[in-house]
Amino acid sequence: MSATTILAIESSCDETAAAVLRPPGTILSSLIASQAELHSRFGGVVPEVASRNHLLAIDPLVRRALEEAGISANDLGAVVATSGPGLAPALLVGASYAKGLSLALGIPYLALNHLEGHLLSPFLGSEEIPPHVALLVSGGHTQLTMVRGAGDYTVMGRTLDDAAGEAFDKVAKLLGLSYPGGIEIDRLAEQGDPRAHEFPQALPERENLDFSFSGLKTSVRYFLEKNPAMPKTTQGMADICASVRQAIVGVLLRKTEHAVVASGLRRIALSGGVAANRALREGMMNLCQSKGWELHLPSPELSTDNAAMMAFAAVHHLAMGERSPVIREISPQWQVG
Ligand code: KG4
Ligand code: ZN
Repeated sequence: MSATTILAIESSCDETAAAVLRPPGTILSSLIASQAELHSRFGGVVPEVASRNHLLAIDPLVRRALEEAGISANDLGAVVATSGPGLAPALLVGASYAKGLSLALGIPYLALNHLEGHLLSPFLGSEEIPPHVALLVSGGHTQLTMVRGAGDYTVMGRTLDDAAGEAFDKVAKLLGLSYPGGIEIDRLAEQGDPRAHEFPQALPERENLDFSFSGLKTSVRYFLEKNPAMPKTTQGMADICASVRQAIVGVLLRKTEHAVVASGLRRIALSGGVAANRALREGMMNLCQSKGWELHLPSPELSTDNAAMMAFAAVHHLAMGERSPVIREISPQWQVG
């Protein structure tokens, strides 16, 4: 494995992130400039606003990442950036910056897939990625993937409509909570009763590993129309949040269990922003303990968007001899598997 020090840049959505990593997994610095507050008044991410703010944030952020890592740009061996999937105007900023730096320093550039960054994040620091079933749950994606090793993926199931994080965020909006609402629902749910209300868990068939969350959102909307006073009390709000969390986490756990049985593997990895959810982490731990399966969880900081996970994905691809030409376009729809 190459010992090249890597600078990674991530700008696929509303977070500008930069990290410096020494292979296989020593994070020398990992910085995130979040724009969540800027977008919260729009109730979601506005691509042009994200792009403009990536542009403002990126150069000072990269300089600070190098400073915190205690190195200069000349010590870098490669510069990598998220090239997709994501918002085109946002991706363009990080990828263009990385290409410019690669040309200026005369070092390799590598275009990376954001989903792969999430997928490999639970193994940050390992030289090998062992075969496993991965549940990737973020604001933009929900998928079960069979991972045979770095770069070798088969999608087993994915959402047909909203992503799990999106479902949390849309329900949070209905409840009048601030964006991104997944964290708020998770926090309020801690004081609530998950059995208070029964919200639907779609596609229950054992052999179907796809997800659907749009019905849940609709069902919560009807529920709130019928019970407008309920979220106004602290306990009422907590009970709704706990019940919504239960509906989303319940279906994630059940389908992951089915996917692991179908795969014949005995190892699960959880990643993406929703992997920070307390009930999901706890549920996965209980499931794996009861089945004797191995569980890999990224730390909460590595679960949400960051550049350290992208640098780690780069370690594996650079070691396989991969490089990207600087004329490589961004790929806003790039999928894995
Ligand atoms: O991976 P991520 O940072 O960005 C994407 O690539 O989408 O995921 C962000 C998503 C948001 O939808 C946010 O509400 C959700 O992750 N999220 C959570 C929690 N923390 C973040 N959802 C539920 N519970 C949490 N604790
Ligand atoms: Zn993400």
